[in-house]
Amino acid sequence: MSGSKRTYYLTTPIYYVNDAPHIGHAYTSLACDVLARFKRLDGFDVKFLTGTDEHGQKVEKAAGMAGLAPKTFTDKVSQNFRDLAKAMNFSNDDFIRTTEPRHIRSCQALWRELLKRGDIYLGSYAGWYAVRDEAFYAESELTQTADGKRVAIASGAEVEWVEEPSYFFRLSAWQDRLLAYYEANPDCIAPTSRRNEVISFVRSGLQDLSVSRTTFSWGVPVPDDPAHIMYVWLDALTNYITAAGYPDTEGDFARYWPADLHMVGKDILRFHCVYWPAFLMAAGIAPPKRVFAHGWWTNEGQKISKSVGNIIEPLALIERYGLDPVRYFLLREVPFGADGDFSHKAMITRMNSELANDLGNLAQRVLSMINKNAAAQVPAHDAFTDEDRAMLDPALRLVERLRPLIDAQAFHEALEAIWVVVRAANGYVDRQAPWALKKTDPARMDTVLYVLAEVLRALGLVMQPFTPDAAANLLDQLAVAPEARSFAAIGRALISGQALPKPQGIFPRFIEEGAEPAGAA
Ligand code: MSP
Repeated sequence: MSGSKRTYYLTTPIYYVNDAPHIGHAYTSLACDVLARFKRLDGFDVKFLTGTDEHGQKVEKAAGMAGLAPKTFTDKVSQNFRDLAKAMNFSNDDFIRTTEPRHIRSCQALWRELLKRGDIYLGSYAGWYAVRDEAFYAESELTQTADGKRVAIASGAEVEWVEEPSYFFRLSAWQDRLLAYYEANPDCIAPTSRRNEVISFVRSGLQDLSVSRTTFSWGVPVPDDPAHIMYVWLDALTNYITAAGYPDTEGDFARYWPADLHMVGKDILRFHCVYWPAFLMAAGIAPPKRVFAHGWWTNEGQKISKSVGNIIEPLALIERYGLDPVRYFLLREVPFGADGDFSHKAMITRMNSELANDLGNLAQRVLSMINKNAAAQVPAHDAFTDEDRAMLDPALRLVERLRPLIDAQAFHEALEAIWVVVRAANGYVDRQAPWALKKTDPARMDTVLYVLAEVLRALGLVMQPFTPDAAANLLDQLAVAPEARSFAAIGRALISGQALPKPQGIFPRFIEEGAEPAGAA
């Protein structure tokens, strides 16, 4: 046991394996990765979970199309999401698959608990179902397309009529308790617009939810009634407690549950903020502390869809721009929570003007001046002037400034707060002109370079969650020891005289093809 360390448990949605990983998947997990890394650096005992959602009609159909048995199919495609996690440098502590025995055991235990407490009963279902969303819809939630198809208004997914025996979860009985839970926990759904959306949905009245199916078999069998399999969302949501050890409620479960944060896209809000807390409360388990629903990306102004053929593949982006610029762009370009548009032009602008010019150049200028003019060592320094202090203090206080922003999942604001310091440092270099001090006042030049090296150290520390490789590279160039890279080490100033390695660039410029000078290879 690591004693009294504060814990932080956060999760991504588990991804449907019928699709190849695309930018939407990478985005949700990236936000979690930045949070997980930030919290670890800030001294928390973090559990960061991701995984794959492998049951249900949609996956069964996709397996059929691929001519494979569902298990063979999911074994194969689940790996794509592990590969994505590796390629994006995600630091997840666990990767759950809903086909694993630990999960089936957990779902069945939860089911038994709900049955025992009288919140599940047997009936029969007649209504609309959208396989694409794996969701039931009421008549009032549907519309008809020009070609006569019935689709869900919210998602555009086509629905089909389903009639079969089914177990139901007594959701209608939870309306008041859900509203009381939202009321008592103002931060449990974010952003506020999403919270309001959920509250008004629940206020409008809840119907009991069909939680089992009999017309196909790819799912978790209902205990003692194997003609039924569990509704895929009951199965999928349960992953969050499975990975914490449920049904064993000691050990990890006692340590990490309730989860601090479920990160989701806005399309799956209702499942996480209505069904999930109701299931949990009905089983006597505490609901999660917070669900944050982020927005959706479009591609060059267009909705991303397989049929349009404009899916953005994270691997292709990484290959073109490099991993850290992609990570930076996705969290910097769009206020987290809002929808955003991906365009290559915007990507290149951010990469070149902010990473290469603002931060990359700052590091390059300072480190090469130190290399040439300060004997490739951390420079000596005299007493700091007011201007030095005005530069250093906000840099060394960045972690304090970022904490509440990260806790609010305001990643874009966190990056902006870092860039306030980056821009101030560029202004400081220009005003202090250390290159001119070389002849007139070398001691002052050393002090200026020392201040700048300290600012770079602070920037390297706080950039670690966002651009882990580039930040490590910067900290290596400042000879910051591995054990001095946590946020608690912000006060461990660089020691004058410490030898520094030869500088190298951290953020290359992106040069568009065709933009090279004539004759270039
Ligand atoms: N399997 C369910 C989640 C179960 S969690 C208990 C699921 N899977 S998914 O693969 O379809 O989607 C996973 C996540 O990707 C969602 O959070 C969704 O919002 C996100 N995105 C999918 N397309 C997206 C964009 N175009 N833009 C941003 N995120 C999007 O839903």
